[in-house]
Amino acid sequence: METLWMKINPDEIYEAQQEILQAGEIVKNGGLVGFPTETVYGLGGDALSAESSKKIYAAKGRPSDNPLIVHICQMDALGRIVKEIPPKASMLAKKFWPGPLTMIFQKSEAVPYETTGGLDTVAVRFPNHPVALAFIKAAGGYVAAPSANTSGRPSPTIGEHVYEDLNGRIDALLDSGSVGIGLESTIVDMTGEVPMLLRPGYVTYEMLVEVLGEVSMDTTMMHKAEGVRPKAPGMMYRHYAPKGELTIVSGESENVISYINRQIVQKKAEGRSVGVMGTSQMMSRYEACNHKDIGDKDNEEEIAHNLYDVLRAFDSDGTEYIYSESFDTSGIGQAIMNRLLKAAGHRMIEV
Ligand code: TXA
Ligand code: MG
Repeated sequence: METLWMKINPDEIYEAQQEILQAGEIVKNGGLVGFPTETVYGLGGDALSAESSKKIYAAKGRPSDNPLIVHICQMDALGRIVKEIPPKASMLAKKFWPGPLTMIFQKSEAVPYETTGGLDTVAVRFPNHPVALAFIKAAGGYVAAPSANTSGRPSPTIGEHVYEDLNGRIDALLDSGSVGIGLESTIVDMTGEVPMLLRPGYVTYEMLVEVLGEVSMDTTMMHKAEGVRPKAPGMMYRHYAPKGELTIVSGESENVISYINRQIVQKKAEGRSVGVMGTSQMMSRYEACNHKDIGDKDNEEEIAHNLYDVLRAFDSDGTEYIYSESFDTSGIGQAIMNRLLKAAGHRMIEV
């Protein structure tokens, strides 16, 4: 299959009506299209078609028990795909939709089990990105989309990442450059009495509590799942794993610097390639090796935005050992550390 790569300026989507309509037609006819959202790129197909969902799993190389998120482009669309809209979900929708929040509901019969990985619940998201919204509309209003990476790689934050992973496996790619946030949406399960945070994201735990009062947290979110299944099936897989061995080093800055420097010297002596993922302020303090600056230590949004790109870059460089600084887990830091811990297979050293 030849993947049609269509570049779109997100600030002038009227210029791209033709391309967006064409992408919509592809989905209506059962095809797959990569598209930007404000979080990461998605791999979209018709959410109400069992066949399309099967194709998504195949293209991504994803186990079919890992459910997909259904993307909508207007609030009115929600009623058709869910059994009921709990009042607390309406409160969150009012505050955070369109935006980087996914909510889980009891599904209606309109949603095939192929889309929900066999579950009676459905994850729904109303993204806030002009190209995503126009594309979902053109595609008929319900687009199932996981992140547009092949299973096990970091989520794509630029069109080139999608192309790298899925060229020849999808019909088209709407490429509008770099996404804003860079980490996947926050997921909250609304089906229980107390809403439960399943995956942290740009909409933080603190922000959810401010609207809802009480929010619980999936215990597997920040810790290694031992014998406990995460509520979001996708959180179970060793996601976002770089090819090299990634270790997070946590502690006082000076201790972190000297620990990492000792590792650099030792690995280099063994003839191994070494990299460091660190904040701008610390970069000059490390021994010579493959340094990648993840952003200003006091700017979590910048760190979130750069994380996956930096991890992918270590893959392209073939770096064998990667050492990363650790980050605070408040606010967006919770999402950053959740992804980083997964990428490291929970390998974290306290110094
Ligand atoms: O930001 C995002 O959410 C991106 C963009 C493209 O919208 N999408 C995304 O999809 O990250 P994906 O498939 O990579 O991650 C979806 C996560 C998985 O961990 C999946 O298991 C979980 O959502 N999920 C989906 N439906 C669920 C359900 N009914 N119950 C529990 N977890 C669910
Ligand atoms: Mg994903």
